[in-house]
Amino acid sequence: MDGTFTVRLRKSGQTVEVGPDESILTALNRIGVHHPSSCWGGMCGVCLARVASGDPDHRDFILNERERQSKLIVLCCSRSLSPVLELDL
Ligand code: FES
Repeated sequence: MDGTFTVRLRKSGQTVEVGPDESILTALNRIGVHHPSSCWGGMCGVCLARVASGDPDHRDFILNERERQSKLIVLCCSRSLSPVLELDL
């Protein structure tokens, strides 16, 4: 999905719309949630988080298939294939 989707944070209950031209990390920063980050290019893994529900669209260069199946997601570049992506944050 290249359009807008919603990210919901399971622990805090916060939600944010992620626009087509911004990353999940950027959207989180916009609502005051400052998750660790470094390269912003899907290469370092600093921004890793765990998916609680939804269908991630992985666009990183570091996670292998097993890690993707275990619900890890790279927040600086990955998106969502489902309208709502819930993170374990
Ligand atoms: S900040 Fe480096 S992979 Fe996301």
